[in-house]
Amino acid sequence: MVSEELIKAQLAKTLETTDFPALGEKYAGKVRDCYIKDNRRIIVVTDRISAFDVVLGTIPFKGQVLNQIAAYWFEVTKHLASNHIIDVPDPTVTVATECEIIPVEFVMRAYVTGVTTTSIWYHYSHGTRRYCGHDLPEGMRKNQKLDRPILTPSTKAAKGGHDESVSRDEVLALGVLTPAEFDRAAEMCARVFAFGQSLASQRGLILVDTKYELGRRRDGSLCFVDEIHTPDSSRYWYADDYQARFDRGDEPRGLDKEYVRYALAAGGYLGDGPPPLLSDEIRCEAARRYVSLYELVTGREFVPDFDEPLARIHKNLKF
Ligand SMILES: Nc1ncnc2c1ncn2[C@@H]1O[C@H](COP(=O)(O)OP(=O)(O)OP(=O)(O)O)[C@@H](O)[C@H]1O
Ligand SMILES: [Mg+2]
Repeated sequence: MVSEELIKAQLAKTLETTDFPALGEKYAGKVRDCYIKDNRRIIVVTDRISAFDVVLGTIPFKGQVLNQIAAYWFEVTKHLASNHIIDVPDPTVTVATECEIIPVEFVMRAYVTGVTTTSIWYHYSHGTRRYCGHDLPEGMRKNQKLDRPILTPSTKAAKGGHDESVSRDEVLALGVLTPAEFDRAAEMCARVFAFGQSLASQRGLILVDTKYELGRRRDGSLCFVDEIHTPDSSRYWYADDYQARFDRGDEPRGLDKEYVRYALAAGGYLGDGPPPLLSDEIRCEAARRYVSLYELVTGREFVPDFDEPLARIHKNLKF
């Protein structure tokens, strides 16, 4: 585990933004700076953190942790489903095949949980018993495990609107993918999620839910893009005390981005208006959690890179 001193020292050295015109046309997401050229997407994972769909600031080592957790999961699942990775030439950079993004988030859920109004728990606790085409039994409690994982696709709302969870039929009505493609995507998600659950459980973790993005290559084939099973796209709980806490009605101990959402919500911020500054304490605690998750998931010690990131990326990408 990275020491307290090193995390604190890194607070002032996080990577917030990049500008590499030589790499291609820039598209900045909330977390990643992408450069597109020659059917390739060079993805620089910065240290930015977003929650409630806004960028809140930076977290020490976050870019490296996210890039390397995603790379790890892409590597160990590539025999199950194809993904966009071409190369990982730098701790914070992935070179990927440029794809046409399917504008649907493929969310897999194994538990009835969540806090936001798009969460399955929100809907269940407000009386919904048919969710995204799945029948949910009566009498479920918050954080209870579902009989089996379900796919709950979500459509990206136009700016300002809320994302909406929808069924297979509703996705097909959008006309953004064929029924055969949808079924293939659903199968890929189910397979990779089941593998993720089983690997997580070997590491003492529960992979609670996750959001996949899929893309279409030029030849029409589907593959996973962006990131998989990272603490930004997934919810993880510690397995050892899950049952005892559930039985007592206590919240599970989580190890994901939810920590930052809770910290902000505790201070009264729920996504409206300009976000408050993250305190150093929250930034350090978030860094500890990201690094811990990396180490638990991969079973490897996290080796932080302290080189100046812009110069290092230049050197590693040889441009
Ligand atoms: N292989 C790929 N081909 C095309 N687009 C990709 C690929 N991999 C990732 N992307 C896109 O690159 C962007 C990554 O940036 P990031 O994850 O920061 O975005 P985001 O904040 O999640 O979403 P948004 O783009 O809406 O801001 C996303 O828009 C994602 O859809
Ligand atoms: Mg993303």
